Amino acid sequence: MEVNLLSGALGAEVKGIDLKDSSEKNWQLINLLMLEHKALFFRDQDITCEEQINLAKKFGPLERHVYVKGLKDHPEILRIVKGAEEKHQWGETWHTDVSYNPKPTKVIILRSRKIPPVGGDTMFSNMEIAYETLDNEIKKKIKGKKAIHSSLGAAAFVDKYTEMEGNGNLDEYSNEHPMVRIHPETKKKILYVNSMYTKKIIGMDKKESDEILKNIFEHQERLDFTCRFKWTENAVAIWDNRSTQHQGLTDFFPGRGLGHERIMDRIAIEGDHPQ
Ligand code: SIN
Repeated sequence: MEVNLLSGALGAEVKGIDLKDSSEKNWQLINLLMLEHKALFFRDQDITCEEQINLAKKFGPLERHVYVKGLKDHPEILRIVKGAEEKHQWGETWHTDVSYNPKPTKVIILRSRKIPPVGGDTMFSNMEIAYETLDNEIKKKIKGKKAIHSSLGAAAFVDKYTEMEGNGNLDEYSNEHPMVRIHPETKKKILYVNSMYTKKIIGMDKKESDEILKNIFEHQERLDFTCRFKWTENAVAIWDNRSTQHQGLTDFFPGRGLGHERIMDRIAIEGDHPQ
């Protein structure tokens, strides 16, 4: 086995592990590596939908997306499709998946099926380091505080994307989570707000809340907390959605990535109530 770090902050490309193998022994190794590096990347893994599902089930019960329809034969798999002429990419600003849910996603397994010749990399950011390096005054102000996370409604997940289909749910969801959560496995502190879904700090007036959140969001965007993965076809990313944020880069500019499809298969594993 070979583990090559993608940056000093997080992320590792792993060679010598076969993701078709969902045995307990193989999963234990993958889980340990994921807890250590937070985001793992594997190339040349031509796994079937069933193999992706089998591996995902080792992490826990699978989660269905609240707004987007899964594949007909494999509803656990959400196919993220960027059409050839689309200028947007699903998940195109920093976020933690579905943090508006009461139990946001634990782990994501994303498999590439079709990748443009240029553009569409995914970036990841380490929210443990973001907490450790946060200004002490802000740490004091948010100690013990919760924030509201709100979903953006079905439109945000399907209307912008011509190839994505909604599942008919039009409800909106809001849930409160601690701004600093403890990772249930590593027991490390994680800065748990994100600019896509976190709207307000509970028990603070809006002006102060907006100011603190703005400062935190800027801090979370520091490039030295990140790594960047350049996709190839049949690559798989497995990341810890509790301790990271990610964004799919929308750099499909005319004459470059535009005119190409990008297709990814996503499986989400259910998380727990952030504590
Ligand atoms: C996501 O935000 O869930 C997907 C990111 C990507 O497709 O690169």
